[in-house]
Amino acid sequence: ESPIKLAVIPGDGIGPEVTDEALKVLDAVAPHAFAVTRYTLGAEHYLATGEVLPDSVLDEVRGQDAILLGAIGGKPNDPNIPPGLLERSLLLRLRFELDHHVNLRPSKLYPGVGSPLANPGEIDFVVVREGTEGPYTGNGGAIRVGTPHEMATEVSVNTAYGIERVVRDAFARAQKRRKKLTLVHKTNVLVHAGSMWWRIVNEVATEFPEVTVDYLHIDAATIFMTTDPGRFDVIVTDNLFGDIITDLAAAVTGGIGLAASGNLNPSRSTPSMFEPVHGSAPDIAGQQKADPTAAILSAAMLLDFFDMSEAAERIEKAVEADIAERDADRPRPTAAIGDAIAARV
Ligand code: NAD
Ligand code: IPM
Ligand code: MN
Repeated sequence: ESPIKLAVIPGDGIGPEVTDEALKVLDAVAPHAFAVTRYTLGAEHYLATGEVLPDSVLDEVRGQDAILLGAIGGKPNDPNIPPGLLERSLLLRLRFELDHHVNLRPSKLYPGVGSPLANPGEIDFVVVREGTEGPYTGNGGAIRVGTPHEMATEVSVNTAYGIERVVRDAFARAQKRRKKLTLVHKTNVLVHAGSMWWRIVNEVATEFPEVTVDYLHIDAATIFMTTDPGRFDVIVTDNLFGDIITDLAAAVTGGIGLAASGNLNPSRSTPSMFEPVHGSAPDIAGQQKADPTAAILSAAMLLDFFDMSEAAERIEKAVEADIAERDADRPRPTAAIGDAIAARV
């Protein structure tokens, strides 16, 4: 079989460190399955060249089968990088242009992982975060900037088409899991978009009679995620709520260093993109302090997406075994964790 064409975008900060380990593990579990092309993009590349994501590079990436991304983001408040430039014009541009409407973010509490919760119970849920709409579209603007009458808007874009496709995906996942779907929104305040989300969820629900539908406002959802995370199976939510709640989900399941994600276009007409939920972590970059597990589990999601579920499972089992033996008082360098997991697969 011909190899899967994989675009690798290591990016900034700890991105290259954790991506190296994910590639190491991929190579151990599925040697020769991938033909890797590396793309140097991110803060350093921007500072050196002024380029963020040239159209020609985007076109090349579009021709690949999948993308593995580390993290994007420069040093905090770098005066030489306009705020949000890399996030918007690189990361979000990839998600939008490649129609990554299903941002899949699983959370599972592995045995032996220290949760900050006193009684975490069993935690195993997935957040299906809408990935192409909401307040992320860049719709809005600022006027009278710098005056006392300055005004800024960030308009949330919600389309019936966009909501329906992600809701249907979430129901299909719930059907294959524990058959429970929770819509998280803020329908008591954001009534225009909220009503549409609620209505569409209930319409699609008729196609999945075995799936129980629950609803929580985003604020209350943060309560239950910390007091009773075991109640969740599949959460479907908009782009911004999904961003926030998946950092919380990562925290309650042992930390951001373990949280994986896939930015999926289930139609497969464009490459899907796999990346840890975390960012470039400038505070620990370049010191081999980053936990590469999130990147490694993102690589497992990539394998799963290409129906290499046996290889994906081997990674998950290896991660589980590695985690069970971790000693918080003896942190290992990033590469040592990658070596250990690669040796186990
Ligand atoms: P962050 O996720 O980079 O870091 C938050 C905290 O978690 C930091 O203390 C960091 O050291 C720690 N952390 C993160 N990943 C870790 C890992 N693998 N192992 C151990 N500790 C880890 O979030 P931030 O500080 O808000 O953002 C930093 C930059 O990253 C910003 O420019 C932001 O825009 C960007 N960002 C990018 C992505 C992405 O590329 N997908 C995601 C989130 C943030
Ligand atoms: C994430 C990040 C991104 C997001 C930023 C960096 C654009 O926080 O992947 O969770 O908000 O989606
Ligand atoms: Mn985030």
